[in-house]
Amino acid sequence: MAYLGIDLGTSGLRALLVDEAGAPLASAERHYEAQHPHPGWSEQEPASWIAALEGAVSDLRAEPAWPALRGIGVAGHMHGAVLLNAEDQVLRPCILWNDTRAHAEAAELDARSEFRAISGNIVFPGFTAPKLCWVQRHEPEVFARIAKVLLPAAFLSLYLTGEHVADMSDSAGTSWLDIAGRDWSEALLAAGHMRRDQMPRLVEGSEPAGDLRKDLAANWGLSGPVTVAGGAGDNAAAACGTGALGEGQGFVSLGTSGVLLAARDGCHPRPESALHSFCHAVPGRWYQMGVMLSCTDSLNWLSRIAGLRPAELTAPLGVTLQPPGRVRFLPYLSGERTPHNDAVIRGAFTGLGAETGRDEMTRAVLEGVAFGLRDSAEALRSAGADLSHLLAIGGGSRSRYWLRLIATVLDTPLHLPASGEFGAALGAARLGLIAATGAAPEEVIRPPATAEVIEPVAALVPAFDEAYSTFGPAYHGIRAIQ
Ligand code: XUL
Repeated sequence: MAYLGIDLGTSGLRALLVDEAGAPLASAERHYEAQHPHPGWSEQEPASWIAALEGAVSDLRAEPAWPALRGIGVAGHMHGAVLLNAEDQVLRPCILWNDTRAHAEAAELDARSEFRAISGNIVFPGFTAPKLCWVQRHEPEVFARIAKVLLPAAFLSLYLTGEHVADMSDSAGTSWLDIAGRDWSEALLAAGHMRRDQMPRLVEGSEPAGDLRKDLAANWGLSGPVTVAGGAGDNAAAACGTGALGEGQGFVSLGTSGVLLAARDGCHPRPESALHSFCHAVPGRWYQMGVMLSCTDSLNWLSRIAGLRPAELTAPLGVTLQPPGRVRFLPYLSGERTPHNDAVIRGAFTGLGAETGRDEMTRAVLEGVAFGLRDSAEALRSAGADLSHLLAIGGGSRSRYWLRLIATVLDTPLHLPASGEFGAALGAARLGLIAATGAAPEEVIRPPATAEVIEPVAALVPAFDEAYSTFGPAYHGIRAIQ
C-alpha cells in the first residue's frame, strides 16, 4: 500500500509518496506566487494550489506504487481565509497568514476577554477571525455572500472529498475554536460576526475526513478506495513528521522564521506570553510554540550587507563556542511574535566599538537569534513544557557554531536527525496512513534516528545566562527610541 502527504506551503506544494512503513518512495513539487497588492497584504489564488496538486500528482503517477494509494493527508499553511459562496465558488483571493491588514480588527477582538480565554491565544493580525471582520468592514458585498470559510488545507480537502471538513490543529489558528473543548465556540463565532453553519465539520487530523471523489480517483488512475485524513496545519504536521507527540518531545526549526515547538499532553494556554497554543493533529494532544519572525532571515540580511554567503560569514568563527561578545543584536527585522507580539519593533546593534569587525557582528547576529529562541524557551517552560528532547531542523542547523550556541543558550542538548524526511509532508502522509489503516498514532508518529547530539558547553552556560539577562531590557530600551 502507499500513502500521500501533501504539504501546501506558502511558496509551493510538495507531495510525498510513502510505503506502508512510512518510508519515502518519491516526491514532486510545484511552485506558485503570493500577490502583495498593497503593503502588508499577502494573497494567493486557491486555484493555483489545485493546479500545483494536479501537476505534482501527474509526476507521481509514474511511480510503480501509485495505483496502491490508499490514504492521503494534507498539511497547509495556517490561518488563511478561503471564502466560498453557496456553490463552493471562491469569492476572493485567500488572505494569507502573513497578511497584516487586519491589525486593527485583531486588536479589537483581542481586547475582548473571551478570545484569549477560549481560543487560548492572542488574536494575532494574521489569524483568521480578524480577516473576516476586515472583509465585513471593507468588502461588505463579499461578506454577505460567504457560505463557508475554509483554511487552505481544508480547501484542498474539499477538492479531494467534496466535503467541507477541517482538522482541529489548523482550526485552532482561526481564533474561533475552543482549543480545550476541541469544538467551534458559539461565543467567539458570534463575536466575530460568523455562524457555525459557515464553518466546516471538525475532525481530528488522524481521523478520516472522507473518501477521494470517485471522478478524481478515476482521473488519477486509482481504483481502490482512498481515505483522506483530517490533515493538519503545517506546524502540527511537522511535529508529526519529527515524531513530536507527547511531553518532552519538540523541535527547534531554524528557518526564515524560528520556531520552538513542544508537544503537550494537556491544554495549557499562556496567551500573555504570546506563545501559540494549538490542538495537535491527533486526539487528546496539544502543542505549544514560540515563533520568532527573523531567524535565518537575520543572518541572510547580514550576508547581503557583507556581500558574502551565510556559510562564508560563519566559517571564520570555527566550531569552538566563544563566550558572549560585547556587541548585541536585536533580531527584530520584521517585528516579533513571541514574547513581545510587536509588529512595529525593528532590529538594532548595540555595543559597537571602533574595533568591531565583521566576525563580531556575525557572532552578535547568531547570539541575538539564540537569545530570541531563549525567550520562547522561557515562555514554554513557564507553561510547564519539558524541552528535554529537542530536534534541530531547518537550514540554520547546517552551522555547527550556531547549534552549539543555541544548545548552550537554551542549556538543552539538540538532536540532529539522520538525513531523510521529517517535515510536514511526511507528517501529512503519516496522518493519511493512520486514517486509512486505523493504526495507533503512537506507532506511526516516531522521531527519526539521531545522527548526532549537540551538547551545551557547560562552562559557558553562566556567561550566556548573564548576557541573556540584558536581552529583555534591551528590547524595551530600543522600543522607547523607535
Ligand atoms: C503559524 C504561522 C506559520 C504558518 C505558515 O502560526 O503563522 O507557521 O503556518 O507556515
